Amino acid sequence: MTAVRSRRIALLAAILLSQGLALVAAGQPGDAASNAGEVSIYSHRHYQSDDLLYDRFRELTGIRVNVVQGNLDELIARLQREGSASPADLLFTVDAGRLVRAKELGLLQPVASAPLRGAVPGHLRDPDGYWYGLTRRARVIVYHRDRVDPSELSTYEALTEARWRGRVLIRSSSNIYNQSLLASIIASDGATAARNWAAGMVANMARTPSGGDTDQIKAVAAGEGDVAVVNTYYFGRLQASDEAADRQVVESIGVFFPNQQRRGTHVNVSGGGVTATAKNLQNAIALLEFLVSVEAQGVYAGANHEYPVNPEVDAESVLAGWGSFRADDLGLHQLGERNAAAVRIFDEVDWR
Ligand SMILES: [Fe+2]
Repeated sequence: MTAVRSRRIALLAAILLSQGLALVAAGQPGDAASNAGEVSIYSHRHYQSDDLLYDRFRELTGIRVNVVQGNLDELIARLQREGSASPADLLFTVDAGRLVRAKELGLLQPVASAPLRGAVPGHLRDPDGYWYGLTRRARVIVYHRDRVDPSELSTYEALTEARWRGRVLIRSSSNIYNQSLLASIIASDGATAARNWAAGMVANMARTPSGGDTDQIKAVAAGEGDVAVVNTYYFGRLQASDEAADRQVVESIGVFFPNQQRRGTHVNVSGGGVTATAKNLQNAIALLEFLVSVEAQGVYAGANHEYPVNPEVDAESVLAGWGSFRADDLGLHQLGERNAAAVRIFDEVDWR
């Protein structure tokens, strides 16, 4: 175990203790405590702190949690190959666009649960119960404090104004986060407005899109551009990093929540649903209910500097330091339903 990792575990243990939770040793398959059965997750998430919460779930229920990690394409291919023989009871991934895709492929089943419906606001879950948001992330504008005054910033749409020519950084259009952001603009203002926005962003780009969200933040710090559109947890990771060089990257960069006057900042979720072929249906529902509970939410979301979905739980300290914001309350299922239209627009305006 690296020093960084052990520090993270110590920090998590402190958070758990502060919330009245105990850190328990990881159980091994076949323990006496496993007589309540098991539950298996195919997961796109991979954080050590998630495992500690699975241990806590086992302590509470006796249910053992198995996790298979991979990217969504790999996990979907595996589910399709395995068919009804699949051991997966739950599928976890990031972005509502992908959750909708899993639903449309017939890989999930609807779940009706009062605790889930109570803890997860309606716009952050599938209307038919096929998937539920587990953590939230906002797609924000970050800016260099020396070259941009936050009073110059307002909306995603305003980034297409002439004054931002050659100054805007954002990743490629093949990325689902940008597809979902564009889908949200289609839902709010229609396809023509969305196309104008995408074309205007391309016209103002500081460079041909390259790299992920962290690379856009680093490019702002390096002076390649002055503003970038990124998900909050990438900024939070740098700000809370154990590496001084990471913290230095964000020292001169501010976070701005756009579109506060009208629809609110674009928000997405990581989330999960019960697989269509789940063998441990009740255990799968019980784990989802635990992960959205007040007890687990702060720790679960905070593991990746994300916002809780459960409105009763506060954001962790790094996120809270940026202030509160108005979030778009668009039903996130619409992002998946408008994904194809968004991809078409990106192609039309030649957003690489
Ligand atoms: Fe991400």
